[in-house]
Order: sequence, then structure tokens, then C-alpha cells
Amino acid sequence: MNILVTGGAGYLGSVMIPKLLIRGHRVRIVDVGYFGTEHLRSLRPGVEILREDLRLIGRDAVLQDRLLEGIDCVIHLAAISNDPSADLNPTLTTDINLDATVELAKVTRSRGIKLLFSSSCSVYGEADGEMDETSPTGPLTTYAISKLEAEKQLLELTTDEWRPIILRNGTLFGFSPRMRFDLVINIFALYSCMAGEIHVFGGGMQWRPFMHVADCARAFLFLAENNELKHQIYNVSHENWRVADIAEKMKQLVPHLKVEYQPQLDPDSRDYRVVQHRITEAGFMPRISVEMGVEEMIEAIITGHIRDPESVYYRNAKWLKELSAVEGREPQEVLNLLETLLGFRGN
Ligand SMILES: NC(=O)c1ccc[n+]([C@@H]2O[C@H](COP(=O)([O-])OP(=O)(O)OC[C@H]3O[C@@H](n4cnc5c(N)ncnc54)[C@H](O)[C@@H]3O)[C@@H](O)[C@H]2O)c1
Repeated sequence: MNILVTGGAGYLGSVMIPKLLIRGHRVRIVDVGYFGTEHLRSLRPGVEILREDLRLIGRDAVLQDRLLEGIDCVIHLAAISNDPSADLNPTLTTDINLDATVELAKVTRSRGIKLLFSSSCSVYGEADGEMDETSPTGPLTTYAISKLEAEKQLLELTTDEWRPIILRNGTLFGFSPRMRFDLVINIFALYSCMAGEIHVFGGGMQWRPFMHVADCARAFLFLAENNELKHQIYNVSHENWRVADIAEKMKQLVPHLKVEYQPQLDPDSRDYRVVQHRITEAGFMPRISVEMGVEEMIEAIITGHIRDPESVYYRNAKWLKELSAVEGREPQEVLNLLETLLGFRGN
């Protein structure tokens, strides 16, 4: 297939692209480049990387053609992709997470292109018991609200010929060529190496569904290649753990690790568990445990495979805040400037 991956230079996309290539797919990426595209350089010229803002998709016919000409399937990852980043600029979040998603859906529908949308298990909010795809939703944050509203509008666009597929992903962990150290397991892996100490906020009793980033990438691939899907919404996760359980696992892996329990600093009441029967019944099985993912990250850090791991560059909200701090400029403008200066433009 010819596949367009939006946000393909991000944490998940950077793991997914090689997997698509191995399966023989031809890949085009569109990414505005908030975190650069340099880490994908070795994939070129096989992969076409377009450095464009997806928010223009609804009103720029030339861009629509550049992105979608010859494409069979779109994997839509581009987003402001966590709560703190979304809170920095709720308007920008709605523009990309909701409005651009709906515009992209309309254009893919009119061209008969399959669409996979990356949503989040955080649409369940604070919930008792294990949530399946029919359970009530209750998004608590700007980010989760934007994802759920996009889901609803995509479902409304469904016809007999065109059915968008929605993946509600759990919290991801594990190594990526575009690393993120603002995801709980990844933060624990980082600080167990750098400080020998990790901090658990608010007692750590809150549940989260977790999945390795490579398993999540394989789930997208599985659903992209499968044309007999029974459902439109899939929970995509592996194991539910309390944050305190993860801290205990860390102690087993890093015997001298100190775990500090501290009061909650922000009013984060997200607490949810999910079941993923739909995707397992369809034939997909995740493979990678938390322990394997943590070991892989720690090894990457101590062997120097992640340059300057404590940099704000690996924390989406802090990085976007730094970029926005340059007065009067959009993050994209600042990046263009930086990358031009540093001579590592991706296209
Ligand atoms: N990482 C997780 O734990 C997780 C969990 C659930 C859902 N998700 C969802 O999966 C998707 C990928 O997550 P990720 O961790 O790779 O996020 P990420 O922030 O690492 O990547 C998102 C990418 O989208 C790009 N982007 C943002 N705005 C854009 C725009 N206007 N035009 C073009 N590109 C734009 C960014 O430059 C970035 O490269 C997101 O939709 C996210 O909400 C992620």
C-alpha cells in the first residue's frame, strides 16, 4: 500500500515507519517538525518527508494533492499529544487535534482513502472497573476532550463505503528514535539512570493501561492491512498497572533505586483500566513487557544512544513552551530558524 503517516516524525511515528517499510509499504510522512525530522534522515530517499502544517489541509487544494495523491491509507498521528502540551495552547490543540482531523477525514472520505485515527484511552477519564469500547467516556482534560470530539465527528462521517478506524491507545513506553521522557515509564527509566531515584506523586494508586511503542506501531499496521474489521473503535493496550506497581518493577530491575512517594502536585485525577478484547479477537497480540521496555531504555541511555537525555527537547510541553517563548513567533517559525542555522533541515 501507499501510506501517508501524519505526525510521522513523532515518538510513535518514528518507530512505525521502519515497520511499514519492512512490510513492503511505500511511505509518505507529513509533519510540521516540532521535534525536527533529522532522526528520520537515514530512511530517505525511500520515504518522502513533507514538512507541512496539517492544519491547512481543509483549505489548500495543492497541499491536499501533494499529501494524498496515490495514497491508499492514512495513519493520522499528528497532534498536540499530551495534557500539559494541550493546556499550553488550547486553541492550537483544537485546531490540530479536532478541526484538522475532521478536515482530513472529509478529504480522505471524498477520495475513498482508508483512515486510521490515533485517539487515546484517556477519553475514559476517571472510571471504575475495566473499560471496553462501549463503556461510558468521561474525558477530563483539553487533550482528552479534543480526542473524543474528533472520534465523534469521524463516526458521524461514516458511510457504507468509508469507515474510519479509531485506535484508543494506552500510555506508551519504550525506546524511539524520537525519544519522549514525559511518559511515566520513560521518566522512571531516565531518573533511575540519572539520579538513582524516582518520584511517585499522589500515592501512585492511579491505574493506567500501558503498551510498548513498538507494539502500538504494530497494532496500527495490523489494522491498516486488515480490510475485514468488525468494529470502528479499538482499545489498543497491553497491561493495566498502577503507577506504584511500575515503581516496584523498577526497583526489581535497578536494585539500589530509591522510590520517593510525594503528594500530587497537580489535580490529575485520571484513573482508568481498559480491556482490549476487540483487537485480540481480531488477531493482534502485543509482545513487549514493561520490564523489557525499561531495560531497553536504560541500556540506550547508559550506552549514549540518547544524546543529552535530560534536555527539555524530550519533554513535549516544556519544549513547545520554550519554542513559544520566542516573542511574536509561532513554534514552526522558530524551528525553521533553528534548523536553518544548525543546517539540519529535514527536507
Ligand atoms: N505517546 C503516547 O503515550 C500516546 C498515547 C495515546 C495516544 N497517543 C496519540 O498518538 C499520536 C502520536 O503520539 P506521539 O507520542 O508520537 O506524539 P508526538 O508528539 O511525539 O508526535 C506528534 C507529531 O505530530 C506533529 N504535529 C503536531 N502538529 C502538527 C501539524 N499541525 N501538522 C503536522 N504535524 C504536526 C509533531 O511535529 C510531532 O512530530 C498522537 O495523536 C497522540 O495523541 C499517544
